[in-house]
Amino acid sequence: MNTVVEAIKNRRSVRAYETRAISRDTLEAIIEAGRWAPSGMNLQLWRFVVVQDAEFRQKLFDAAVPRYYEWRDRRGGVSKVVRKPIDDITEDPVFYSAPVIVFVVGTKLATYAQDCPMVCQNIMLAAHSFGIGSCWVGYGQLALQDEEVREALELKDDEEVFGPILLGYPEGGFPEPPRKKVPTIKWI
Ligand SMILES: Cc1cc2nc3c(=O)[nH]c(=O)nc-3n(C[C@H](O)[C@H](O)[C@H](O)COP(=O)(O)O)c2cc1C
Repeated sequence: MNTVVEAIKNRRSVRAYETRAISRDTLEAIIEAGRWAPSGMNLQLWRFVVVQDAEFRQKLFDAAVPRYYEWRDRRGGVSKVVRKPIDDITEDPVFYSAPVIVFVVGTKLATYAQDCPMVCQNIMLAAHSFGIGSCWVGYGQLALQDEEVREALELKDDEEVFGPILLGYPEGGFPEPPRKKVPTIKWI
């Protein structure tokens, strides 16, 4: 199979990571792949915050996880099938104790809302090509409700965070591909 298509099809959201660090060179190559994403008018309205520091990861955990449980309990549990077993098996149901957390920060202008998710996908595919697992964790945005976290990320009012994206070597390998729905395609 074509290697690009193979990477696209074999990339899986990884929710269990080794503590092993990812080398700086590899992280730079992954972010570099992100910045090669297309963007409207080639404006490239993005920047990155790469978190590896254990203390700051703990800060993110402290900011997000209680809010996650609060939200979950308010809703009377999480209905999505994929979440239930995860909540039972991990102490960190938001960041899955990943060694690296990448925030893709877009400037709210022009087509940033279309551009930044493509940056994220590039990052996840590049990570996969290096044998590194990834997961876009929308719940990670709960950490942004903490003022100190926003300050550390130097978030401005005209910016929006995409992801964050977790990176790390997958514990026990990559999960099996979930079944993807077959879309209807109208050919004209
Ligand atoms: C915008 C977005 C938000 C997501 N948020 C979470 C999340 O908070 N926690 C999580 O475990 N997975 C999250 N995911 C991963 C999806 O659950 C996952 O992509 C989906 O189940 C398909 O599985 P696959 O990525 O292995 O193909 C998110 C994915 C996207 C695109």
